[in-house]
Amino acid sequence: NTAHLTLDPHFTVGPINRRLFGSFVEHLGRCVYDGIYEPGHATADSEGFREDVIALVQELGVSAIRYPGGNFVSGFRWEDSVGPREDRPVRLDLAWHSTETNQVGLHEFSSWLEKVGSELMLAVNLGTRGTLEALDLLEYTNIDKGTALADRRMGNGKADPFGVKMWCLGNEMDGPWQLGHRSAEDYGKLASQTAKAMRQLDPSVELVACGSSSASMPTFGEWERTVLTHAYDDVDYISCHAYYEEKNGDLGSFLASAVDMDRFIESVVATADHVKAVRGSSKTINISFDEWNVWYIERYHGVDKIEGIDNWPVAPRLLEDRYSVADAVVFGNLLISLLKHADRVTSASLAQLVNVIAPIMTEPGGPAWRQTTFYPFALTSRLAQGSVLEVKLDAGTYDTAVYGTVPLVDAVATHDAGAGTAAVFLVNRSQTEEATVTIDSAGLESLRLIEAHTLADEDFYAANTLQEPERVGLVSNDTASVSGSTVTVTLPPVSWTALALA
Ligand code: AHR
Repeated sequence: NTAHLTLDPHFTVGPINRRLFGSFVEHLGRCVYDGIYEPGHATADSEGFREDVIALVQELGVSAIRYPGGNFVSGFRWEDSVGPREDRPVRLDLAWHSTETNQVGLHEFSSWLEKVGSELMLAVNLGTRGTLEALDLLEYTNIDKGTALADRRMGNGKADPFGVKMWCLGNEMDGPWQLGHRSAEDYGKLASQTAKAMRQLDPSVELVACGSSSASMPTFGEWERTVLTHAYDDVDYISCHAYYEEKNGDLGSFLASAVDMDRFIESVVATADHVKAVRGSSKTINISFDEWNVWYIERYHGVDKIEGIDNWPVAPRLLEDRYSVADAVVFGNLLISLLKHADRVTSASLAQLVNVIAPIMTEPGGPAWRQTTFYPFALTSRLAQGSVLEVKLDAGTYDTAVYGTVPLVDAVATHDAGAGTAAVFLVNRSQTEEATVTIDSAGLESLRLIEAHTLADEDFYAANTLQEPERVGLVSNDTASVSGSTVTVTLPPVSWTALALA
């Protein structure tokens, strides 16, 4: 199993938008309550936020964070989450069959974001609410002073506007499970109308229309075409959502999940550009890949479901997937796919951040720890700087039941011309063979190897747990070396690797 990469710093895909390293905090399970917020915890700060979690989120290197949902947002009244805490209503959360106490809301979350150093990305409820409520929220967050809602914000303790730039126009409106699910025609008209109104209030906002909840939705493709036919001139982005899981013990197909993400992105780009051509528009719509991850959805549907009219728990344990080495390799490969398309995917959100399908786990009253997926995200966010390079990759192939014949090795490279640094991210999908990779780049001749890290384990299903929180981590890859303009590295079976050069 050998692979050969050719890089040329003159040939770039495009600059890396830091928003690619976004994440997502939904009022779901223990993401907020008992996740980022646990007032009784030994590390809780004066606002009740866990400082051990804040430190891990900072280490993860997350740019913008999408909030407060997800499916949750389609039943959410934003007014419930502001003002004196004792006056905030307790509500049913129909999406997750839970109770929402509203003890953490817009102000508290924004204060937490300042602590972690991330930007707020808000979603408005276009499921059970409409344009007027979206305008109200925008007035509350972005108008300086002198209006009913700006003054209400000031009265609630926030003198300056929140100044929110990125807005999602609803969530997964193509999904029959969504409260207020609509047809593409109906949603396209509503998204267009709401976007126009929001821009009348604040022309500087950046707006994301809902694309498909996954590439396997029966309306995929036609949904994007119809929505953009209505809203092309009014929005900046169309969203993509994708979750992957190993099914029926087919690890080979699961390891090739990024092939599907590549195809998904390229199909949405083609659809958006088709609408552009039909309209004769000079504007380009980019992708906000605002939900992506490994998620064992089959397990959620089988075991976790909460039901019953008298059963609405607060912060139940939901979607608490435990991630293995194989999951982290797929996850690192999904990041490679996002980077390979950095010219058109200019925003992305890892779904989610804490406890709920998350890189960070917590135990109430106990520790916080890094899941296996934490490592590829943190390292890619730290090392992928500047621009993505067009990589010419020659690799062997293998056959998968789900995605056909796919490369055994996948890779992407980045280059920061100003700083004189470069990075290469690689996966080996083989379950039996090491991969020996040669990387040629005449233009990067004077670079030295600074770091080489690999995530791998003889047990592909090893994971970090409360009992053994550091079972899996990165190891230094001592096979990596540079000679002239050639870098060589050996990748173990089922592994993810990052190389830093300077
Ligand atoms: O991230 C979990 C859920 O996945 C989100 O609430 C929803 O948007 C998607 O279906």
